[in-house]
Amino acid sequence: KLPKPYTVPFAVPPVLAPIGTTDQGEPLYEIRQRAASVEILPGLKTTIFGYNGLTPGPTIKAQRGRPIAVRMINDLPPTHPQWRYTPWTSCHLHGSASKPQYDGYASDITQPGEVKTYRYPNIQDARTLWYHDHGVHHTAENAYMGLAAQYHLTDAVEAALPIPKGDYDVPLILVDKMFGADGNLMYDDAGHSGLWGDVILVNGRPWPVMTVAKRKYRFRILNASLSRGFRLQLSDAVPMTVIGTDGGLMPAPQQTVQLRIGMAERYEVVIDFARYKKGDKIELRNLGVPNSTDYDNTGKVMRFEVTDDPFDPAGNEVPAVLNPNMEVMGLLPAQAKATTKIEVVRKNGLWTINGTTWEDVIESGYKKVVANPELDEIQIWEIKNSSGGWFHPVHIHLVDFQILDRNGKPPFAFEKGPKDVAYVGENETVRAIMKFTHQTGRYMIHCHNLPHEDHDMMTQFRVGDDTP
Ligand code: C2O
Ligand code: CU
Repeated sequence: KLPKPYTVPFAVPPVLAPIGTTDQGEPLYEIRQRAASVEILPGLKTTIFGYNGLTPGPTIKAQRGRPIAVRMINDLPPTHPQWRYTPWTSCHLHGSASKPQYDGYASDITQPGEVKTYRYPNIQDARTLWYHDHGVHHTAENAYMGLAAQYHLTDAVEAALPIPKGDYDVPLILVDKMFGADGNLMYDDAGHSGLWGDVILVNGRPWPVMTVAKRKYRFRILNASLSRGFRLQLSDAVPMTVIGTDGGLMPAPQQTVQLRIGMAERYEVVIDFARYKKGDKIELRNLGVPNSTDYDNTGKVMRFEVTDDPFDPAGNEVPAVLNPNMEVMGLLPAQAKATTKIEVVRKNGLWTINGTTWEDVIESGYKKVVANPELDEIQIWEIKNSSGGWFHPVHIHLVDFQILDRNGKPPFAFEKGPKDVAYVGENETVRAIMKFTHQTGRYMIHCHNLPHEDHDMMTQFRVGDDTP
């Protein structure tokens, strides 16, 4: 029995506190990946896998220039209680230029009972990152079970902006799930095509209701679904102000009535509730995207209810200039040394990139790469979707990129910021420019429809020389 939309109160994940410092004096965090029985649907218990037993997991807040370490303990059961696979894990901090050994490389797995400490450099511009599981061939099940959370990196530029902060800076983690009658999650990826649930959760709550004051709020929207794309719109069709994309603040805010968000994309939007009166109810709706299966209530996401409670008036602006993130937004096509062609296509029942799979990478002894730029080389990547009626959100690890065009046309207004996932729609070719900076070594590139990634639309590139 599913709850009626807009009956469950909204909540945000807790912020994680460090447990101490490392030998190098870095803040040290500890996270236990474990099974937990939680109430998601009122009156029913659901077994989840969560960071510290929570889904979404706790938010980590980090500062640019201040590296941190996270001790990840895989305390999951040796086999999944229903689906009978071994929940080995590999934690990926999506959006971070981490060293290869801390990037959650799919084959670099931690078995149940094992521990791995990850180091995060925090050397990039302020942004909304997320950490999620990346264990080879079980990324989809592990993430679906709940191993996903946000990570906020801040810097001096962001801190100086008069944008909403504190209680008015709110994560919105969107996922869809399928529940069985006993309350447990069901997994059906339709022959690895994708999984589309009939229940929409925001921060782990089904279609929640959030009480808002008459002021601006900043929402850090993350689509953490396996396969569902969203096209978000407010019920009164008032434009939202987009201030940030995957790689942080945009050069300038952009207005959009509809916001399309594929899997793993992050968009930061400011919504101003000052124009409403007490008692007004505004819905955040999902108009849907092609090739995401819709159900009765998947067109609903959450509802805002306006109060006239007093509020803190600080940080209630959106300035005309945000942050140019010139590392990527200043790149010019003439600076590119090479164009790398990426083709996503289904071949012999498997999802492939340029005709190859992650199994092919494994068989090559992890030598096979689609590109080998030098450190600091600038390239254009041309990502072509030849798979017919499917869209693929393609994620390139390590780098931020700027979308140049989509089938030769300019990117959408909301995409005019630094990105690390490109929504490559049906029969589209997306061109993006990027600079392979910060680290050398091998990094993955894959589709973020996670059943596609696991079967087996993933490959890698290498920056600089091979390092053992
Ligand atoms: Cu969000 Cu390779 O992952
Ligand atoms: Cu895909």
